[in-house]
Amino acid sequence: MTISGPTDGVSELVVVANRLPVEYSDDSAQARWRRSPGGLVSALEPALRGRRATWIGWSGQLPAEGEETLDLPDELDGLGIVGVDLTAEQVELFYEGFSNGALWPLYHDAVATPAYHRLEYEAYHEVNRVFADAVAAQAPEGGTVWVHDYQLQLVPAMLRDARPDLRIGFFLHIPFPPVELFAQLPWRRQLLEGLLGADLVGFQTHDGAQNFLGATRRLLGLEPGGDRVDVPDGSGHRTVRVQDFPIGIDAEGFDALARTPEVQARALEMRREMGGFRLLFLGVDRLDYTKGIDVRLRAFSEALEEGLLDASDVTMLQVAVPSRGNVEEYQRIRDDIELLVGRVNGDLGRLGDPAIHYLHQPIPREELVAMYVAADVLLVTPLRDGMNLVAKEYIACRTVSTGAVILSEFTGAAKQLEAAFIVNPYDIDAVKRALASAAGSSPEELTRRMEKLRANVFEDDVDRWVRTFLATLEGTVP
Ligand code: ADP
Ligand code: G6P
Repeated sequence: MTISGPTDGVSELVVVANRLPVEYSDDSAQARWRRSPGGLVSALEPALRGRRATWIGWSGQLPAEGEETLDLPDELDGLGIVGVDLTAEQVELFYEGFSNGALWPLYHDAVATPAYHRLEYEAYHEVNRVFADAVAAQAPEGGTVWVHDYQLQLVPAMLRDARPDLRIGFFLHIPFPPVELFAQLPWRRQLLEGLLGADLVGFQTHDGAQNFLGATRRLLGLEPGGDRVDVPDGSGHRTVRVQDFPIGIDAEGFDALARTPEVQARALEMRREMGGFRLLFLGVDRLDYTKGIDVRLRAFSEALEEGLLDASDVTMLQVAVPSRGNVEEYQRIRDDIELLVGRVNGDLGRLGDPAIHYLHQPIPREELVAMYVAADVLLVTPLRDGMNLVAKEYIACRTVSTGAVILSEFTGAAKQLEAAFIVNPYDIDAVKRALASAAGSSPEELTRRMEKLRANVFEDDVDRWVRTFLATLEGTVP
């Protein structure tokens, strides 16, 4: 393991996440850095701009034997960057294995079967230690450290041992499951104790916070009360606060980008390219089995077959960013989705005019925003999702308050975005009806809904999320 980047320890806030905001990309002739995938980075990075902060994480680089690693930038728009290198074995066991083969499915209602392997947990423990050591070396005396997400749940306790002077916050970006599911985990006690090393543990939803508190009662015998739980500490006790902090987006930034003439022109061009101004349905996701991409493709194709929607009136674009391609379940879902797209287009498409346009690639921000501007209906149908930022990004881009969002009730976002068309993604008929109802709603009804949705997204934006979390951590909120 090597650590690269600034070590002056002057930043006030140290943020630690498995991913850095930039990842190494070797898919072009010229090696380069690009924005890391996923909601954690896209929310947090803009919110930290302009703050004195250092971000510690993995760069996604995996140099072959004898190959040099590419030097990370020391800073990104004023944000200090410190890289933690992982070995190929650690990536396989800690990242692909325990994090994404055990924790990710378990925390998402076990929608795929989690696999528990002792060697992988050992690697998870080892890599969490690497991150904790890197933070301990970096954080200023008495400083504040903010640990992020399921890959690093042991870090808070490791850090508290090494640096009792620090104020430690933890935020879980994904759901925390009910104790009946969490209890499957052979290392459930270690993870709970790891998290309780923090002063504040944050979740996306009230349910997540309650599930965690319930687990400390059932599995550790603690006695949580309200939003606090006392944990043994030396000869006394320490109080850990546990609360929900639903994450937001940089709504102003998306809104401003959506209004630019370039994006508006590109959106028009896209509509022209995709079926000449028919109603455009859009899906945008990391290619992940939790996202219910297959659900919406099925509902869309059945709605066409049954005449609920007319192929001469509607078309669909599904964008899937490649994700965790070495993990078996991700290979399987990619095959399933691509088979489905092929079938639907074979049955329902026409020459030069597919029913579903499908892209499996990362999309630059401006292009993505043009898609949001172009689309009449956004389909967000996860089987379980911590929040879902795509829904919020789409809403922020609907500058003239038109458009509709079909939103799974099993996303954190559904708790806030009540004016969306809320659906149960396990009920394909209900999803079909929601498609038809969004397509058939009057412009006045859609605007009424969209104005409410925009108010939610602009009020609870990512700046507010950062300020509320840090203020609570710093004890300034009673
Ligand atoms: P998750 O964090 O599980 O990936 P979210 O919906 O919360 O899900 O966040 C996904 C983030 O990834 C959003 O910020 C979205 O804009 C971005 N994103 C999704 N698909 C793509 C894509 N094909 N290209 C670029 N960014 C994408
Ligand atoms: C979700 C997780 C993040 C993760 C991201 C991308 O947003 O909550 O922790 O970084 O997906 O996944 P990856 O495995 O590529 O880091």
